[in-house]
Amino acid sequence: MHETVTWSEDNCPRSPRFDDVYRSRNGGLLQAQTVFLGGCQLPHRWSAAPQFCILETGFGLGLNFLATWHMWQSDPQRCTRLHYVAIEAYPVPAADLLRSVQALDPPNPALVALAAELAVAWSGLRPGLQNFEFANGAVRLTLAIGEVLPMLQQLTCVADAIYLDGFNPVKNPEMWSQTTLEAVAAHCRPGSVLASYSVAAPVRRVLSGAGFVVKRCPGIPPKWQRLEARFEPAVR
Ligand SMILES: C[S@@+](CC[C@H](N)C(=O)[O-])C[C@H]1O[C@@H](n2cnc3c(N)ncnc32)[C@H](O)[C@@H]1O
Repeated sequence: MHETVTWSEDNCPRSPRFDDVYRSRNGGLLQAQTVFLGGCQLPHRWSAAPQFCILETGFGLGLNFLATWHMWQSDPQRCTRLHYVAIEAYPVPAADLLRSVQALDPPNPALVALAAELAVAWSGLRPGLQNFEFANGAVRLTLAIGEVLPMLQQLTCVADAIYLDGFNPVKNPEMWSQTTLEAVAAHCRPGSVLASYSVAAPVRRVLSGAGFVVKRCPGIPPKWQRLEARFEPAVR
């Protein structure tokens, strides 16, 4: 897997293909924790559940996955099984997955250790769907390696929570199109929650049309707002 990632002097990862950053320049982990985990009310929502499924569009450097796995590991009320399903068309080299967590400030040795486990699985990655197991099988990662829409159509999971994490919708419109977000909605049940850093008006409009009740919440710098939504198709 050979997607090029460039790193700035202050260790911010960037995609030359999309001319955008993989995460917020001043605090990727805080963004994962606040926008995605917080936006989906985790860990509260998986509390004591037998199984909890998260669907992510845009696996990227795996930081959201690693932050979620770490929260699960640290939570005495965690769900019995965590199923994390993520779509990615342009997988990065394992070395960038590792650098991504080694570059965190402040250092986070726990995430570095989890990333090392992920990097071992990553070495066998190929196009299509594949499953990896961690934590003695309690954490399952399904990676859907391919274009977002056909991968969404191929997946059969029902998601309790969704992370929408494509690049900026202006630079990466396929990740936020009406067809894509309707295909995301097809994996939801009433009450599924969704989180994103993007509060762009077209994204909110399409999500509302697809059956989500959408709200803007206070964000973290440099973004002042973030998005939370709940799938309530009957409310439309
Ligand atoms: C902002 S990054 C995701 C960051 C990631 N969630 C993390 O925690 O590191 C967006 C990702 O979406 C992927 N992507 C962009 N367009 C795509 C498409 N059409 N289909 C599938 N993945 C796509 C990019 O390759 C990139 O890895």
